[in-house]
Amino acid sequence: MKEIVLPKPQVKGKTSLEEALFARRTVRSFAPTTLTMDELSQLLWATYGISDPRQGKRTAPSAGALFPLELYIAVGEGGVEGLHSGIYHYLHARHALEIVAKGDRRKEVAQASLWQMWMAEAPLMVIITAEYRRTTGKYRERGIRYVHMEVGHAGENLLLQSVALELGAGIVGAFYDDKVAAVLEIPPHHEPLLIIPVGHPR
Ligand SMILES: Cc1cc2nc3c(=O)[nH]c(=O)nc-3n(C[C@H](O)[C@H](O)[C@H](O)COP(=O)(O)O)c2cc1C
Repeated sequence: MKEIVLPKPQVKGKTSLEEALFARRTVRSFAPTTLTMDELSQLLWATYGISDPRQGKRTAPSAGALFPLELYIAVGEGGVEGLHSGIYHYLHARHALEIVAKGDRRKEVAQASLWQMWMAEAPLMVIITAEYRRTTGKYRERGIRYVHMEVGHAGENLLLQSVALELGAGIVGAFYDDKVAAVLEIPPHHEPLLIIPVGHPR
């Protein structure tokens, strides 16, 4: 399958960490402004990208360095420059995307999220999923707790990076797991845990 290689992420920005922490708020209204590939690249890298290629370590910590999370994005029509609408899987090792399903699925994702239709305004949704067995294989029952903590780490990375890029992000935990998984056409062992709509605040 053809991969879409993302631009190289930046490790210097214009906003301080303190400014991003101070400004972060859940955003639930978005302008229909297209995101750039640079912005998308930065958002995905900040969430769960590789920061130490030698050791394979990421921007978020992980119990036992097992990294159970997988990121998917739902791109709306005209949502990201140079990308067709659809569902894509983030390939962290190559900082690239692979297409999973075609078409603008934002409305269906919003409907599957208890009809939170404000979500469908966002040009982009980042869906954080987990493959529990990567962590429970080593830590058993306690691994479930670790996976949930790790979604929080990655999610906050994304929220803060959004602010630092002068974007806004929402956060959605209220959705029907099976319906979201079906709309996204993701494999059954990648379980959706958090949906983060991102865009320019209206
Ligand atoms: C785990 C989690 C799940 C959430 N789910 C939703 C949701 O489904 N819909 C929504 O509108 N907000 C959701 N929120 C956002 C909270 O309502 C919001 O963070 C809270 O009101 C505090 O506001 P702030 O984020 O602007 O500081 C969620 C937040 C968290 C941490």
